[in-house]
Amino acid sequence: MTYEEARSAMAAVGQEHIFKFWDTLDQTARAALLAQVSRIHLDDLAMLRGVLEKEHSGAAEASAAAATISEMKPAPVVELTAGQRAEMAEIGERELRAGHVAALVVAGGQGSRLGFDGPKGCYPVGPVTNAPLFAFHARKILALRNAFGAPVPFCVMTSETNDAATRAFFRDNDFFGLPEGEVFFFVQGMWPALTPDGKMLLDTPGHVFTAPDGHGGVLSALERSGVLARLRALGVTTMFYFQVDNPMVDVADPAFIGLHVARGADVSIKVCAKRDPQEGLGVAVERGGKTQIVEYTEFTDAQKNERLPDGELRYKFGSVAIHVFSIDFLEREARAGLPVHVAHKKVPHVDDSGAVVKPSSPNACKFEKFVFDSLLDAKTCVCLAFDREEEFSPVKNAEGSDSPATCRADLSRKWARWLAACGVQIPVGADGYPERPVEIDPAFARDSASLASALARNPRDIPPEGGVLLKA
Ligand code: UTP
Repeated sequence: MTYEEARSAMAAVGQEHIFKFWDTLDQTARAALLAQVSRIHLDDLAMLRGVLEKEHSGAAEASAAAATISEMKPAPVVELTAGQRAEMAEIGERELRAGHVAALVVAGGQGSRLGFDGPKGCYPVGPVTNAPLFAFHARKILALRNAFGAPVPFCVMTSETNDAATRAFFRDNDFFGLPEGEVFFFVQGMWPALTPDGKMLLDTPGHVFTAPDGHGGVLSALERSGVLARLRALGVTTMFYFQVDNPMVDVADPAFIGLHVARGADVSIKVCAKRDPQEGLGVAVERGGKTQIVEYTEFTDAQKNERLPDGELRYKFGSVAIHVFSIDFLEREARAGLPVHVAHKKVPHVDDSGAVVKPSSPNACKFEKFVFDSLLDAKTCVCLAFDREEEFSPVKNAEGSDSPATCRADLSRKWARWLAACGVQIPVGADGYPERPVEIDPAFARDSASLASALARNPRDIPPEGGVLLKA
């Protein structure tokens, strides 16, 4: 794209101002700006401006309000007995053995609350080794591959901002033991922010501010990148979806996969009991005959606190974004598109002199898609309850709840529990957490049952003090 072409294309949609520093840019900066403009789809821009107009006219609020007041009740949730779990796991294991299952981590987010300089997946969380989040995910996939003798393609969604660093990190760590050809990276879309009058913003004199298009961007990115077609060609029919920040996730849990397949579901959702009524998890509800995840901000305080006669919260089960999708459904949804959500944000930009301004109040709208909006199109959807002490402790904040400190402690506690089940006691303090950090390489044991057999095959000495580490 030449400068003249880019300028006239942008002028036609009222965005010529992004070239106002052109004369001051050197050759490299000019080339970078032209490359960025060529990546901005005019259709997307027109669509985002339409969303903005709707937002300003109040139509979006009206339809959200209408949805909120419509009839809503808790979604039915499956709680598997030990026998049912074993039955479902058998089905899931058959799928894994047949090579029908892939895993997908969404890792394109900005991780602004954690404030880590680099892709969030590179954040060190191993209680003993400081192993990064990505290591735990990849080693779990390696364990599945070893247990069931078939590849589990690992799809990693990145963003323009962290793609190169993510790929380099996997390369530098030898793909954590996975065959390189079984890791599929793909990049999600970026969208500009728009001011109230529909203008894009420059965050430097030669760069338009853009941000990832939300975890819902995964659907179109999977298709656009060709990853969906590659999975299809490999015979994959089922996708296990999870977020990068939770190293406790039971990747491609066979019982969950089995339940999804046995029910012929388009989408399945893992849900857990909320920590307290105010916990910011989306809640699984049934509305208009459909299972949906409703964000906690949509609930009134009365709804959040509503209790059943037995004292349990009425809206007890929250979603932590652990899903299974059928590949057929992902293909349909990639074409259908998802609704776009608007957030009023403080977006840094340059002033007329080219100096960066950090606004003190929201000055622009950012746009995002949410993956759970796809549920509205699902014909069959199953919710499965899980035990959060075993499977959920995310790294969201730098300190306090859901932070690296709480996550490391929860990991140690879970692995100490597994060891205790195998007869190895690690002293536990009054707070219920082990007194020494504990870490088990997922490629050594996937769960407490496989830990027992791994220790029987391969006995290990537990050192009398310091961290406890079991590596494959
Ligand atoms: P979060 O909503 O926790 O956002 O993402 P975040 O970007 O990680 O962190 P904050 O809010 O800026 O502090 C949940 C999951 O969705 C992914 C994230 O990488 C994380 O795994 N995600 C989010 C994307 O892949 N792309 C996005 O555009 C947004």
